[in-house]
Amino acid sequence: MNDEHGRLIGPGQIDSPALQLRPLLLPAPGQEFEPSSEEILDDDTVEPGISEYGIFGVHPVDPERVFWYRWITGHQVSFALWRAMYDIIGYRRDNMPSAPELNTLAVCVDAYSAMLLYSSTVPRAHYHSHIRHRMSLQHPAFSGTWAPDYRPVRHIFRGKLPWRDNPLCASLAEAVARNAATHDYIAAHLVPNGRSLLQQSAQTVSATVSREKEELYDSFFLTVRRPISRAQFIRPLRVRVAEVGADLAHNGLYPNVDGHHHPVVTGPSGGSTMTLVPRVLSTLDEATRLVAGQQLQGVGA
Ligand code: HEM
Repeated sequence: MNDEHGRLIGPGQIDSPALQLRPLLLPAPGQEFEPSSEEILDDDTVEPGISEYGIFGVHPVDPERVFWYRWITGHQVSFALWRAMYDIIGYRRDNMPSAPELNTLAVCVDAYSAMLLYSSTVPRAHYHSHIRHRMSLQHPAFSGTWAPDYRPVRHIFRGKLPWRDNPLCASLAEAVARNAATHDYIAAHLVPNGRSLLQQSAQTVSATVSREKEELYDSFFLTVRRPISRAQFIRPLRVRVAEVGADLAHNGLYPNVDGHHHPVVTGPSGGSTMTLVPRVLSTLDEATRLVAGQQLQGVGA
């Protein structure tokens, strides 16, 4: 369905989504999921159902609510995707995953890139006055390097896997390159001087990542470490994907803020980040289905 300007309208644009944040339960990094007899089934009550969204939102939004929701939820979904990658790869370095596992890894990396874009749709001035300001109050050197779920999968992103040159890994390598380009792109978009909070505090704050810094990071993104089962991991991921779908369908990728839009990337100069613009939901949906399927097969158990 298109509006009078030819913009795509998703079916969910009728109701304004609640955009209610929730804590994300995750096991400590490296900790196995709890055994559970609960089956992971296709669950119609939380399937996204909406795969279309307008790029430029029509309805005016409450920027504080929408962009805070996107920043926290975009990160929470990224954490879950990193955890799903860990379930495939663990700490193994020498054994190459199977072809379906490599495909799941590549789609999860692309879904993480999609979440980088989704989180970064905040207008730059609002990002600095609200989001970055709050992160700097949490800690002056607040940094993505403190993300507890990232460290165990960092070697995927650093291209340090011994089997990375195997032709079967080509799609994963391309997804990792797209991810690096997307992170660089959104960092330059939101912070044109390029200096992260960590870099700005380098003179005064130790670069070592401590448990306390990880806890500050987790608590900022409403992440609670607790033993959970795979089913308790998958369902909240599906719920969040459905909510992101409802948000995008109602508010567009680039929401209407006082009659203005603040696009992150619009043209070919955006490179591979541009390819994500119409594919945020479909990529996320595919990753979630593959992760749930992998869990069904007991991969990483
Ligand atoms: C949109 C959400 C973002 C996520 C999920 C994210 C995630 C991450 C992660 C996981 C790392 C660690 C990489 C590693 O250790 O190899 C990192 C590092 C870094 N990120 Fe981001 N990032 C985001 C936004 C930004 C923004 C807006 C900037 C702008 C300055 C930025 C600048 C950096 C820099 C410079 C580093 C290197 C370490 C540091 O100085 O903190 N990132 N990011």
